[in-house]
Amino acid sequence: MKKLVWLNGVVSPLESAMTTVQDHCYLYGDGLFEGIRIYGGKVFKLDEHLDRFYHGIKYLKYQMDISQPELKQIILDVCRQAEADNGYIRLNITRGTGLGLDPSKIDPKPNVMVMINTLALYPPEAYDKGLDVVTTSFKTIPADALDPRLKCIGKYAANILAKQEANSRGAGEGLMLNHQGYIAECTGDNIFLIQGGVVRTPDPSCGLLKGVTRDTVMNLAREAGYKVEEGFLTPFDLYAADEAFLTGTAAEVIPMVTIDGRLIGDGKPGPITKDLISRFRKHTCEGTAF
Ligand SMILES: Cc1ncc(COP(=O)(O)O)c(C=O)c1O
Repeated sequence: MKKLVWLNGVVSPLESAMTTVQDHCYLYGDGLFEGIRIYGGKVFKLDEHLDRFYHGIKYLKYQMDISQPELKQIILDVCRQAEADNGYIRLNITRGTGLGLDPSKIDPKPNVMVMINTLALYPPEAYDKGLDVVTTSFKTIPADALDPRLKCIGKYAANILAKQEANSRGAGEGLMLNHQGYIAECTGDNIFLIQGGVVRTPDPSCGLLKGVTRDTVMNLAREAGYKVEEGFLTPFDLYAADEAFLTGTAAEVIPMVTIDGRLIGDGKPGPITKDLISRFRKHTCEGTAF
């Protein structure tokens, strides 16, 4: 696979792709992104990622002049040029170019970037053994500050601090609560737990990114006959859970075996988690070919 970047219409090797220091995202974090996976020469859940991307563009009032179908073709085209079989696509848009916060005083033409790369979030053995997770002191940003459904680049400073805290406490991942004390998500993943055979995950109103992998796993679990519930969960629910796992495009589906130094169930990946991981892996062959 060739690591390539499409930036505002020009394709170049990853190492030589450059953007301006006056980019509004470089200056103020004013940008959006998507991470998308390529499995077996097909782009997984491309339309779902593009829907979320274009909803964010509307929310932030970016003056995007590339339509969703056009961007889809651009992405598929770069994947073809990169001869990507398995990989990770990073899609970025920033508001435009210029110094000063006021969007009316900058060049509002968005800078759009598609990067074809690879990404491994966790060590391979963690997918068999499971992750240790700790509750971090960093809360998710409330919806009246910045809607958590927005995959806004600037908001990730809080998630990076939470990840750093988890690392410093020897954990593989950090849990983030909202300001009411309910479980929201981890730093780059959504969270699920299993209690008495029921698959439970926080309601989107708890302040989380409505993950594409989260939706996929909820659908696969329902198809498999499990009861799936979205609700309000606290760390107590995790301490009392039989099993837990995390989902995300970069993370895929990964078991979680301890929380805050307490074993989840017997401290090993549970049977429903393993079943859903296997169903998810089979489902990844259903992407868009390029
Ligand atoms: C904060 C956060 N939550 C959840 C997710 C999982 O979302 P998705 O499954 O769409 O990748 C991500 C990953 O992109 C994320 O950054």
